[in-house]
Amino acid sequence: MTVHELQNEIIKLKKETNTAILAHSYQAREIVEIADFTGDSYKLSVDATKTDADNIIFCGVHFMAETAKMLSPQKRVFLANRNAGCPMAEQMDRELIAQLRAEEPDRTVVAYINTTAALKTVCDVCVTSSSALRIVRALDAEKILFIPDCNLGSWVQAQCPEKDIKLLNGGCPSHASLTAAEVKKAKAEHPNALFLVHPECRPEVTALADYAGSTSGIMDFAGKSDAKEFIIGTESSIAEHLQYEYPDKTFYNVSKGIICRDMKLTTLPDVYSTLLGMNSGDAFEIIMSDELIASARGCIDEMIRLGG
Ligand code: 13P
Ligand code: SF4
Repeated sequence: MTVHELQNEIIKLKKETNTAILAHSYQAREIVEIADFTGDSYKLSVDATKTDADNIIFCGVHFMAETAKMLSPQKRVFLANRNAGCPMAEQMDRELIAQLRAEEPDRTVVAYINTTAALKTVCDVCVTSSSALRIVRALDAEKILFIPDCNLGSWVQAQCPEKDIKLLNGGCPSHASLTAAEVKKAKAEHPNALFLVHPECRPEVTALADYAGSTSGIMDFAGKSDAKEFIIGTESSIAEHLQYEYPDKTFYNVSKGIICRDMKLTTLPDVYSTLLGMNSGDAFEIIMSDELIASARGCIDEMIRLGG
């Protein structure tokens, strides 16, 4: 089957099975094309609550499918590739955070949404990169423990000096691998380009940016800007999507590009076989107990209540 034929089969099967496909913007173009909803982590978690489909197939990483399941527990939620995890989501365990809470009960625990459901059970509120600053500012708390991403946390802290924000040593290995020297080299090669960066990058990298923000923030900024050239400091698929959408502008990946291997695992055949295997037990379904959903969901509801 050609890519186009496979896409048509997927579109036919998803209608027959009343399935919605959610794809994070880091997914490949051919997957984004067959998705019902595309966007960054925040948008997809809200989209998951809006669809009236019976089934959701998530093209992204495990914590995102878990979040969709928690927000729509009556739906069946599948992860298109069972091996797609987020290394950052696994970095801190529940016991460590529970212990820190016990030591400082007046510190509000803010969790990046890139965390496991088990870890969310000991957190007060979730944030995504698009909402972290807004939510930390809106919280009726002065003392905060921000987990797990110390780079995103430092970015929030720099803009919110009135709060006492404690950070731990976690982060995205892909974004944190980018160095300031690589950015300076890219800027020297493309002196007219604006540098747009995701705040999961290190503070010395974010300090060089013309704009720092979430995946959707970067895409919106690039679309609206009058500039013609951009150096993109986030997952390399974003430069590809932007180049496709705005052919009159030029997008360069910084250095060799930031690659998230987990986000790149999902293929069209994965989506197809998930659609075929949903009722035979061959697809990877997210199964969570009612108790886990009840205790982990509170901080996601709080994020949505505070306006994302
Ligand atoms: P956003 O989707 O919030 O921009 O986060 C990027 C990311 O790393 C997703 O895992
Ligand atoms: Fe996790 Fe980083 Fe990949 Fe996002 S880009 S899924 S934070 S490893």
